[in-house]
Order: sequence, then structure tokens, then C-alpha cells
Amino acid sequence: MFARIATRYDLLNHILSANIDKRWRRIVATKLREKLSAKEPRVLDVACGTGDLSLTLFEITGARVVGTDFCRPMLAIAAGKTSRQVPLIEGDALRLPFRSGSFDAVTIAFGLRNLSSVENGLAELCRVLKPGGWVAVLEFSRPSNAIVRAFYGLYFRNVLPVLGGVVSGSLSAYVYLPASVQKFPDQEQLVLLMKQAGFDQVQYQNLTGGIAALHMGRRSQA
Ligand SMILES: C[S@@+](CC[C@H](N)C(=O)[O-])C[C@H]1O[C@@H](n2cnc3c(N)ncnc32)[C@H](O)[C@@H]1O
Repeated sequence: MFARIATRYDLLNHILSANIDKRWRRIVATKLREKLSAKEPRVLDVACGTGDLSLTLFEITGARVVGTDFCRPMLAIAAGKTSRQVPLIEGDALRLPFRSGSFDAVTIAFGLRNLSSVENGLAELCRVLKPGGWVAVLEFSRPSNAIVRAFYGLYFRNVLPVLGGVVSGSLSAYVYLPASVQKFPDQEQLVLLMKQAGFDQVQYQNLTGGIAALHMGRRSQA
């Protein structure tokens, strides 16, 4: 599915979100920068897709950033933007090709929802983090305000699939998007899953009224 939409993915992200996605990624990088204390921190961006978050992390945190994704056409587009600054490695988020405890921070933006198991995905993110390292999960969530939720629901279920389908040529990908968001854990449920996966100090902040949320947690020291 991601291979089919790769060439139109960035354009659609920016159109469908009215460019708000760029602001969300900058918030992730800015919040993570506050957590990075190592001299030359290493950050892994999982399910990096076309590399927008990887590049934003590189620019804002100054860390050594690696991007990974299992979809070669998405990585090919990422390489066109980031190849000099951000090494890209093909790999499955559920079996990351990195040793345990390799990274000071791990990010995943709009990727966790797509994994066949959210629990196993979180456990794998935890595994590759150093004890005390931080994870940042950016994902669509549940708007907290009922009116925003109603309007957003109408847009997401009716307008977005048509627009996304026409521009990308893949209606199924943009029908899948709202369906996958509906099935994904809400803010509080995700907090619980992150704690169960081995993270402590788990907190989240709603973005744009909870349309998206940024969850952060620390790999327990034990
Ligand atoms: C919606 S895109 C998000 C891309 C990017 N993180 C962003 O913020 O735009 C989801 C990405 O997750 C990747 N993905 C889905 N399942 C994956 C898996 N099991 N392992 C690695 N990547 C995966 C897809 O290939 C796709 O590039």
C-alpha cells in the first residue's frame, strides 16, 4: 500500500492537513531535544517513510539520526531529501536490524498504527533504546472536544478518502487511513500500552485538539 502511494505521499500529507503535519513533526523534535543529554546522541526514526521527521530531527536536535522503514519506494524518496545527513536502512519495525540498547532516542510518526501488533512494536522500540533513553510516538488520536470530533470525523471519513484517493490513485489507502485510526488506542490506552511495554514517565500532549497526540516515555532503567 505504501509503495503505491509513495510518490504522492508528501503532497497529500501537506494538502490533507493544511501543512499542520510539518508543525507536528517540529514539536516532536523540539520536545525530544529537551530529553537528549548525551554529547553525540543517536536517534532512530522508525517507519520513517519519506524522511520528513528524520530530517526535522537532524535539523532541530543536531543528533546523529538514522531512518528505517520496510518500504523501498518510500525510502527512495527519503534518500532524495536526506541521504547526506541521515543514513537510511531498510528494516521491519517489528524486527529492527539493530542491537539492543543502541539508541538514545527512538521516534515513530504515523507508523505504530500500521504495525500488525502495537504491543510488539512498542516492545521492539523499547529493546533498541538504551536504558533511560526516550521514545516519542506521534500518531492520530481522539479529539478531546465533541464538536471538533464531529467535524473532524466527517472530514476524515468522507472528504479525505475521496481527495486522497483521487490524488494518490489509491482509494483503498485513504479508506484504510480513517479505519486504522478508529481502531488505534486512544491517548489513555496508549499510555497503558507504553507502560506495559517497559516505559516509565509516560506522558502525552494533544496536538490540534487531539487530532494527533505526541506520547513520550523513558525506557525503564531496570
Ligand atoms: C503513514 S507513513 C509515516 C511515514 C513518516 N513517519 C511520516 O511521518 O510521514 C507509515 C510508514 O510506516 C511504514 N511501515 C508500516 N509498517 C511497517 C513495518 N512493519 N516496518 C517498517 N515500516 C513500516 C510504511 O512503509 C510507511 O512508510
